Amino acid sequence: MDAHLYAKTNQQRSLEELIALLRIPSISTLPVHQADIRAAAEWLAAHLSSMGLESRLYETAGHPIVYAQWLGAPSAPTVLIYGHYDVQPPDPIQEWHTPPFEPTLRDGRLYARGASDDKGQLFAHIKAVEALLRTEGRLPVNVKFIIEGEEETGSPNLAPFIRAHQDLLAADVVLVSDTHSRSLEQPSIVYALRGMAYMELEVWGPKRDLHSGTYGGAVHNPAQALCELIARLHDDNGTVTVPGFYDRVRPLDEEERAALNQAPYTEAALKAETGVQAAWGEAEYRIHERIGARPTLEVNGLVSGWTGEGAKTVLPAKALAKISCRLVADQDPQEIYQLVRDYIARITPPTVSTEVRLLHYGLPAITDRHSPAVQAAVAAYEEGWGAQPIFTREGGSIPIVAEFQSSLKAPVVLMGFGLPDDALHAPNEKLTLECFWRGIATSISFLTRASALPVRG
Ligand code: BES
Ligand code: MN
Ligand code: MN
Repeated sequence: MDAHLYAKTNQQRSLEELIALLRIPSISTLPVHQADIRAAAEWLAAHLSSMGLESRLYETAGHPIVYAQWLGAPSAPTVLIYGHYDVQPPDPIQEWHTPPFEPTLRDGRLYARGASDDKGQLFAHIKAVEALLRTEGRLPVNVKFIIEGEEETGSPNLAPFIRAHQDLLAADVVLVSDTHSRSLEQPSIVYALRGMAYMELEVWGPKRDLHSGTYGGAVHNPAQALCELIARLHDDNGTVTVPGFYDRVRPLDEEERAALNQAPYTEAALKAETGVQAAWGEAEYRIHERIGARPTLEVNGLVSGWTGEGAKTVLPAKALAKISCRLVADQDPQEIYQLVRDYIARITPPTVSTEVRLLHYGLPAITDRHSPAVQAAVAAYEEGWGAQPIFTREGGSIPIVAEFQSSLKAPVVLMGFGLPDDALHAPNEKLTLECFWRGIATSISFLTRASALPVRG
């Protein structure tokens, strides 16, 4: 039996195993889930061991890293497969049709938190490795897995781990499946990810909350001052007004722009996916350029004053906004933080005080579309997915990709198995089963083809 047939024959069991992994609520950002995080890491290490890989956990200052290897092909290339076992909180929980950690099948889709981001995509590679090992008794390449539990909180401990374990992680290609395609019929290889500078803007005025009748009109309301500041961060075109914000943005070259325009992201698709009435943003850029090649500044949350039921007349003492900038090559997150901080300081009125704090950051990444590894991935999609992939730039961030590039000096292949309607980070996240099956097949094809890639000396 060949590996593809093995994968098909074992679909039901693979699905049951994925469901077991998805039942573990490994939410990295919430301390009450510490034990679940560890359970997911241990589950993966045990599963990889049972397949015949050497595996172990590495402890970090935060959540453990799962590492596994099969190094039985000494002269062949080494593929390092990255994924994350942590998931986002399920909130707003009341919007889920079935509970987020009770995986449920409906219409060929598996609904659960983490189904697509990233347990399902990661598990496709694990099942591909299993299929090859069980049918051939060996792998065509050496394989290393590195699976972290802190991706959704900005990977604070993975970059230092990579730098400290360069020999352990040495590879000829890094394979990452944590992105999505435009559609089932049109898979895509992502070649650019945005970086991130995540900040908190706090505004405060009076020394305590005030009666809004006694003081309203004579004291600058911090909630209002915050809104006034935020309103000055974009112009009417949707362009960020922070001086210097775009200085290091690497423009698209004409060849690349033309290639991207062959498969444009249409306003109709955007409206259908999101339910918005119209697209928004910089008029001189097309939608896929606004998302993939332009930086943003977004308000992610606002907190101030009375937000409970009913009315309370209060003039709040402070107001807070969570603000994140998505960055493109060659912007530097720390520099962007300083620019935002300095601009806010400059436009803060004398009636309130402000502070901008950097919570976490990550670098943008661009991978080489023309590398032999990416070409092997193109052929793998043709064989395993059954369609020729297009190349896209993504708006999301996987900050560790830039670290793989700089520390391990290996080409990175972003082989996404998700779809745009997977509802990442939102209620009713799902994985389309057909993506899971095709993902396994594509991974089998890639690992087979990767044996012909150049081995680094
Ligand atoms: N899988 C996503 C990244 C992603 C999303 C790539 C959509 C391509 C398309 C990843 O798990 C994620 O959510 N990353 C965070 C990183 C942040 C916390 C630093 C993100 O993009 O918000
Ligand atoms: Mn992810
Ligand atoms: Mn995510």
